[in-house]
Amino acid sequence: MVELDDEKIRKIVRESYGKVAENANSSSCCELTVNPTETSSSYCCGPSVTPTQASSGSCCGPSVTPTQGSSGSCCGPSVTPTETSSDGRSVIVQDKSLNTQDYSSKIGYSEDELESIPKNANLGLGCGNPTALASIKEGETVIDLGSGAGIDCFLAANKVGKTGKVIGVDMTSQMLDNARENARKGDYENIEFRLGEIENLPVADDTADLIISNCVINLSPDKHKVYQEAFRVLKPGGRIMASDIVLTQELPLLLKQSLEAYVGCVSGAMKKEDYLNIILKAGFHDVEILGETNFPIAMMITDKFINELKEKHNLTSEQLEEIRSFKGLGTSLEVKAIKPQ
Ligand SMILES: C[S@@+](CC[C@H](N)C(=O)[O-])C[C@H]1O[C@@H](n2cnc3c(N)ncnc32)[C@H](O)[C@@H]1O
Repeated sequence: MVELDDEKIRKIVRESYGKVAENANSSSCCELTVNPTETSSSYCCGPSVTPTQASSGSCCGPSVTPTQGSSGSCCGPSVTPTETSSDGRSVIVQDKSLNTQDYSSKIGYSEDELESIPKNANLGLGCGNPTALASIKEGETVIDLGSGAGIDCFLAANKVGKTGKVIGVDMTSQMLDNARENARKGDYENIEFRLGEIENLPVADDTADLIISNCVINLSPDKHKVYQEAFRVLKPGGRIMASDIVLTQELPLLLKQSLEAYVGCVSGAMKKEDYLNIILKAGFHDVEILGETNFPIAMMITDKFINELKEKHNLTSEQLEEIRSFKGLGTSLEVKAIKPQ
């Protein structure tokens, strides 16, 4: 079993999302084949088809229903039709007929919103719709942590208008290339995409009225630093609105130590109360949960994923069974907090 250090995690996450960004351009399907002992990896935390294709391919979740036994990688909730969402929102049903557009509708994007942005900006990598809950006003400055191909930046840019500004920050250069190309094609002049880590934001103090983030902070090995940096770059009275994955209970150690599970948005996720404490510790007030959708972690642990673990780490059948039978829940959380005046 490999030790996960922060740099190794960032490297693997960057390489994995680099592949996702490249595959979004090339329309080839990517696979979850992270090999911690090698210098490269490829991972699909998104649709196995390009967003322009009309059918097939799952988004951030297994491409099969839980009653089926195989396939799929994930970075996000994926629950059966019988799972319920505490906020009454439609739950996420992953099956082979679910394309990026359908997945995005399930996690809270309206058809109008999706039509209002450059078509390649949506790679189906989110786990919520932070801009919908952030009450964005014209003229505001918004920063998106882990902006990917830009989906939420474009939605925010439409709301802040010409007098406002949006800054997307991402550490994966291929993602930035896609996002910048999308901005160019859509003639967006109020967005800037910056290369950087969300633990060391390339942004001056007291810059933003609002910070958004969609399914990214769970991937950071230093979530304390992320929220401290968010606090630093917000203006006094500014707010953060994050969609993210948290857990209801600790993961089994084997799963926690797995890089495969990390880039799949499983083992980087924290228990909900710990996550909320980090936000408070960074200095935020009025921490408020605006939405929660539970899903079984077991759904993200696919046969393919188990086989990868088996091959790479030579696990016994008892160890594999311990992972496979984990009963904990993941939660797709939508949390808002305020930097005091
Ligand atoms: C699951 S995707 C979400 C992308 C986008 N927010 C969306 O909803 O489409 C995660 C993104 O966060 C970026 N990312 C992950 N960890 C990061 C970090 N520590 N610093 C900056 N970007 C990071 C990845 O490169 C990737 O583009």
